[in-house]
Amino acid sequence: MLSRNMTENLHLLIEQHLKMWGKQNLTAMDGTLGNGHDLEFLHRQNQVQHLYGFDVQQQALDASGAKIVGTNKEVRLILDSHHNLEHYIEGEIDLALFNLGYLPGADKSIVTHTETTLVALEKVMDKLSDGGLLAVMTYPGHEEGRKEHEHIEAFLTTYHVREYSILHLNVKNVKKACPNCFLIIRKS
Ligand SMILES: C[S@@+](CC[C@H](N)C(=O)[O-])C[C@H]1O[C@@H](n2cnc3c(N)ncnc32)[C@H](O)[C@@H]1O
Repeated sequence: MLSRNMTENLHLLIEQHLKMWGKQNLTAMDGTLGNGHDLEFLHRQNQVQHLYGFDVQQQALDASGAKIVGTNKEVRLILDSHHNLEHYIEGEIDLALFNLGYLPGADKSIVTHTETTLVALEKVMDKLSDGGLLAVMTYPGHEEGRKEHEHIEAFLTTYHVREYSILHLNVKNVKKACPNCFLIIRKS
């Protein structure tokens, strides 16, 4: 059931998209591993076979790796910024998730930055397969997050509707800035 919890909504929508799409042997990417919850979710999807995860903090790689022990999928966790993704992922990307901001419970100064985030998102959009999905969660509740959110929103409007469907989900009836979710689907 959809709720005001944006991560839960996002996961439900991704599952529904994959089910209706039906494509198998998918390549998925988690652009911001953090505590590994999103990686664990992506790994749980039967259609996903190749999984790449990025983070700039070793502790994020450790926490994420611990969540998917004993896998029979191809999983690569990479200690590098997501904007260098083409050094690690050669072909198309079917599914990508960027949960932006800082790692909860860790150093809040290590946060995603607008400039590198936009470079990474542009590269993912270029590599997205037909029918592929890129999901981006933004957090306008803190200063860098607000700037990042506004730039991403503006950046996404530059893409033509013939090539991508771009959806925006947020909660309207709360006073505090809540997480926003952008869903970008490359049209087949
Ligand atoms: C909100 S957390 C991600 C939450 C995570 N997906 C989860 O399920 O727990 C954001 C993460 O982005 C990471 N990060 C910041 N800048 C980055 C960059 N340029 N490339 C990759 N990861 C980055 C941070 O280290 C932090 O772990």
